[in-house]
Amino acid sequence: MAAAEEGQWVLMATGRSPTNIAVIKYWGKRDEALILPVNDSISVTLDPDHLSATTTVAVSPSFPSDRMWLNGKEISLSGGRFQSCLREIRKRAQDVEDEKKGIRIKKEDWGKLHVHIASYNNFPTAAGLASSAAGLACFVFTLGKLMNVKEDHGELSSIARQGSGSACRSIYGGFVKWCMGKNNDGSDSIAVQLADEAHWNDLVIIIAVVSSKQKETSSTSGMRDSVETSPLLQYRAQTVVPERVLKMEEAIKSRNFESFARLTCADSNQFHAVCLDTSPPIFYMNDTSHRIISLVEKWNQSEGTPRVAYTFDAGPNAVLIAPNRKNATILLQKLLYYFPPQDNDLSSYMVGDKSILSDAGLKSIEDVEALPAPAETKMPSQKFKGDVSYFICSRLGAGPKVVTDESLALIDSVTGLPKGV
Ligand code: ADE
Repeated sequence: MAAAEEGQWVLMATGRSPTNIAVIKYWGKRDEALILPVNDSISVTLDPDHLSATTTVAVSPSFPSDRMWLNGKEISLSGGRFQSCLREIRKRAQDVEDEKKGIRIKKEDWGKLHVHIASYNNFPTAAGLASSAAGLACFVFTLGKLMNVKEDHGELSSIARQGSGSACRSIYGGFVKWCMGKNNDGSDSIAVQLADEAHWNDLVIIIAVVSSKQKETSSTSGMRDSVETSPLLQYRAQTVVPERVLKMEEAIKSRNFESFARLTCADSNQFHAVCLDTSPPIFYMNDTSHRIISLVEKWNQSEGTPRVAYTFDAGPNAVLIAPNRKNATILLQKLLYYFPPQDNDLSSYMVGDKSILSDAGLKSIEDVEALPAPAETKMPSQKFKGDVSYFICSRLGAGPKVVTDESLALIDSVTGLPKGV
């Protein structure tokens, strides 16, 4: 270690990583400590402009311990998952030299240095939108950049997996497969990119963030209960998913929306069936989730082929995938007919790509109030104001990136503490 003024310097790296939504679900671990799944899974990576984590990692000889802040509040780094990722990245750290600052760190010195990590999610952390996938992918990616780790994306995905299973898929953009692997040490349980975000860029993703008063079962404990008690989980992992993964890969490759949508909906429904098959049963979806499924199913059935796909993770939020802008605008009109905004404020009711509202002809609350009842749904013409908190309109996006603009770093380069603390 050497520097112009020994002990006075702070060296930093900042990265940004997207979140991802599984279309073939990960549910169940065969190894709890290494986070090894019972089946392969496939996801789409969302546009980081709308849903991502940004993380700055700083190192300085003046830091007495490792510390982390999430969305401005200090959190403990002592959990096994953060510790596994820190240990695995530190093991692979290389020499680093910053000529401008006169800093040189030899690879053997990384073990003696402590880090400060500040992370910020550009979407609500507690809304059930896979924030830990984006967060742990960003943690691993950015630590790897600071420590000049040379390992490829596959290896990084395997480290991110040990922080949060689905984080391994956020190491890539576009369409991603997490291969369950066979080895007991988890070395082959890695993510691979099936296609990048440009491969099928017409897809539009609308997320309905559903209001929930219910305390949800965490994915970790829900999965454990399912593995221990659900006979359907075993059947799903051994018999259903292997074939479904092959069909999904083919649907993605050939951009076959009909097949993609049928597989996505069927897999979401089977995942929630496994939750119901768990003892005691787990209910992640609520009445609003069920109403959204019903709306989409009735529309799809009335058209003969799927117009939109739905998928639900371990919570009530609906992720709706349309093949193009036209179907997305029709979907939005149907959704807003049943779920108008509570406070009549249309612009804060749509987050992300807000232009979908004007594309759907919805410029004001009066436009929403004038929407006709969807003909095919035959649902009672009751409306459910307030049952959706807000919508997010997004698209497929790229994998983690280094943020080169130093003004966007979350840590002050002089104090080594999060900005504003
Ligand atoms: N959990 C949720 N969001 C996170 C983040 N940005 N970094 C680390 N862990 C997280």
